[in-house]
Amino acid sequence: MNHTPGPSDFDQLAAHFDRYLPLIHPVSLAVLERLPGIVAGGTVLDVAGGTGEPGLTLARREPSVELLGVDQAENLIAAAKGKVAREGLTNAQFSLMPMDALLLPDSSVDAVIAAAQSSIPHAWRIFWGSASEREC
Ligand SMILES: C[S@@+](CC[C@H](N)C(=O)[O-])C[C@H]1O[C@@H](n2cnc3c(N)ncnc32)[C@H](O)[C@@H]1O
Repeated sequence: MNHTPGPSDFDQLAAHFDRYLPLIHPVSLAVLERLPGIVAGGTVLDVAGGTGEPGLTLARREPSVELLGVDQAENLIAAAKGKVAREGLTNAQFSLMPMDALLLPDSSVDAVIAAAQSSIPHAWRIFWGSASEREC
């Protein structure tokens, strides 16, 4: 029987989650390298960001970027917020928010990133607006 991991599954992984970050770091870097130049000075949404990647790497590299990271798992969001506080990052925020119910206005961000490909369709409205979502 298949089991789709839910918030509680990821919550339980929180203490060990970052052990896998070195494995996916090349993916994070590849995502960031493909961001268009307009991101400088803009707002970037990292959907299903877990403990903060790839958004935190972007926020560290580009202080002009305002990063908002969202995830459904409370413990992972808490871990991401802990990194922001420890590093004194002033351009990164994390919020508990399921990707299929993003409480953000249409067209309110300049770019959407995710290191979990299935997250992207849920974020089209936030980037393109509701009309464009129907066209995609
Ligand atoms: C493979 S991890 C990737 C996390 C992070 N982007 C990274 O690269 O380390 C998948 C993430 O998707 C989150 N996730 C899964 N379903 C979600 C949903 N419906 N809404 C928000 N986050 C979700 C999980 O909590 C988990 O943090």
